[in-house]
Amino acid sequence: MFAVYAARIDADDPLSGLETGERPDPEPPAGWTTVTVRATALNHHDVWSLRGVGLPEDRLPMILGCDAAGVDEDGNEVVVHAVIGDADAGGGDETLDPRRSLLSELYQGTFAQRVAVPKRNLVPKPAALSFEEAACLPTAYLTAYRMLFDKAGVQPGATILVQGAGGGVSTALVLLGRAAGYRMWVTSRSEAKREAALKLGADQAFASGARLPERVDVVMETVGQATWGHSLRSLRPGGRVVVSGATSGGVPSAELNRVFFTQLSVVGSTMGTRDQLARLLRFLEQTGTRPRIDRALPLADAAKGFGAMIEGVQTGKIVFTP
Ligand SMILES: NC(=O)c1ccc[n+]([C@@H]2O[C@H](COP(=O)([O-])OP(=O)(O)OC[C@H]3O[C@@H](n4cnc5c(N)ncnc54)[C@H](OP(=O)(O)O)[C@@H]3O)[C@@H](O)[C@H]2O)c1
Repeated sequence: MFAVYAARIDADDPLSGLETGERPDPEPPAGWTTVTVRATALNHHDVWSLRGVGLPEDRLPMILGCDAAGVDEDGNEVVVHAVIGDADAGGGDETLDPRRSLLSELYQGTFAQRVAVPKRNLVPKPAALSFEEAACLPTAYLTAYRMLFDKAGVQPGATILVQGAGGGVSTALVLLGRAAGYRMWVTSRSEAKREAALKLGADQAFASGARLPERVDVVMETVGQATWGHSLRSLRPGGRVVVSGATSGGVPSAELNRVFFTQLSVVGSTMGTRDQLARLLRFLEQTGTRPRIDRALPLADAAKGFGAMIEGVQTGKIVFTP
């Protein structure tokens, strides 16, 4: 089958290890099934994999991609949950299973015509969502859902700052947060992305690092080192930063004096459970919210999508169709 895969690791030139071509069809083990992929979406995770973060050389070649929407062996339209883990081993939450992985880390990913997944990981796709829209959800939107509704610990009406407005997770945070009644503020390095965020429903948009008109209840961090200091300075006393990524680097100054003196909380968040993915799908149906798609490309042109993400020019999700 046709697939897009990591053939080599290069930390400095990730695109040089990306290849497209024929790979063996999946052979699902007991309890797994095969999904025919109708749409898939790019995440920064796929760029990290090409850089060798979470994907050692000895697992190559590895088909990339965490996200998929498609058709199961019985012809049902499904969304694929990307977390491969045992909920029992995680106390009822598969993201807390110490041995959990994401598709494309240990098992072949979704940038292919077909992908093998545990049967438990299939969630029915609502008819109201297109395959392209549904493909955006399992990683970026599920991560945003959990950050907002599980980890943020504030009620609708609270003010939430999202760092790096253009990213896949960031646009998801703005769309979902706004639909749930939070006051969503964003920062971005790019004026065009700030304008795009306002169109998506952000209440205010600021240049990265700008002083805010007032302090916020929660900051959503996926940028990391480049924005961390601003995130801590922007919180009200007792506020919380929810962090699920560190695109610009993972070792900022911890600023412990500020953390204890203003009694801040730092909370990590990763992906979400299958049940949260099912609730996210219903949330979109109930509110009419739809994912922001930056561009849709044929899977054969995946390298163009990777290039755009590495440059950081996208607003929203980059979708591929096999
Ligand atoms: N823990 C999890 O489960 C989980 C799930 C999904 C994603 N993630 C992580 O979260 C991060 C975002 O993922 P994504 O797929 O949304 O990526 P993305 O679409 O590439 O978004 C990254 C955004 O970060 C901002 N940014 C990047 N470098 C920056 C810099 N040097 N200074 C300031 N801003 C910068 C940019 O915003 P502006 O251009 O608007 O400033 C960019 O749009 C990644 O690191 C990813 O690995 C983690």
